[in-house]
Amino acid sequence: MQRAKLLEGRVVAAGLHQRTKARVAELRRRGVEPAVTFFRVGEDPASELYVRMKEKRAKDLGILSEVIAMPSSTTERELLTRLEEKNRDSRIHGILVQMPLPRQIRTEAVCQTIDPSKDIDGFHPINAGKLLLGDPSGFPPCTPAGICEIFRHYGLVTAGAEVVILGRSNIVGKPLAALLLAKGPQGDASVTVLHSQSRHIPEHCRRADFLIAALGKAEFVRGDMIKAGAVVVDVGVTRLLDSSLPGESRIVGDVHFSEACQVAGWLTPNPGGVGPMTIAMLLANTVKAAERSAGCGAD
Ligand code: GUN
Repeated sequence: MQRAKLLEGRVVAAGLHQRTKARVAELRRRGVEPAVTFFRVGEDPASELYVRMKEKRAKDLGILSEVIAMPSSTTERELLTRLEEKNRDSRIHGILVQMPLPRQIRTEAVCQTIDPSKDIDGFHPINAGKLLLGDPSGFPPCTPAGICEIFRHYGLVTAGAEVVILGRSNIVGKPLAALLLAKGPQGDASVTVLHSQSRHIPEHCRRADFLIAALGKAEFVRGDMIKAGAVVVDVGVTRLLDSSLPGESRIVGDVHFSEACQVAGWLTPNPGGVGPMTIAMLLANTVKAAERSAGCGAD
């Protein structure tokens, strides 16, 4: 029996894209052409796919986009030099470096080099600090902001709720905890962040009103770890070889979908849940950066 209602990120993202498109049109009327640069280093097939999807969506919305693809042998200095060029280029409003990076390039050095006003990922220490302080003049990181937007769309209120986040990454777990902890209608939650050293993980999960799985372990969250009626968000994407179909693979999340369906009240599908929201927020941040540089827009 399927019990959970689906949190259709794809649908929420489509609505957000419409609003972003209208803002792009307004910028163009004022003579501003929103533009974004995506950097990809190395040949990771998943990263290639993600960057291609981001580029395509940007084009659909009328945002100029370019991809700078660099080989896996790229040195940190070479990448930082290219980033500095784009920082200086006033025609470019947003810069993104697709993660993960090859081992010889320090993620922190990259995040610190991107101009904070072009940092549409929200990874620069200044933007991370603003997020923690509740200062809206930064850029919210895209996956956490996308998850909050899904909750807002479906009228799911986190105020006073027990939220359990599995995973403490700088991209999802930590910034999501900051957003949900913040004062205000989109936050006000009691947040627990679990990680590889946490004890009693199933017990923590079972008391969650909102359970967010972002730890990168295929089907880690089983049905018996979910409270009846809980909101469950699956951020994970793992490609598994399918033993029933030799040579074939399938994508699974961090949540065992068919088990979770029977217990949760709300559940993100995978694909079609969080992924489309990350891209939608990224392009909304690009337009925000362009509006700010042109001295127009809501903030
Ligand atoms: N890799 C996985 N998620 C992300 C993201 O949100 N931004 C970037 N730049 N890389 C990622």
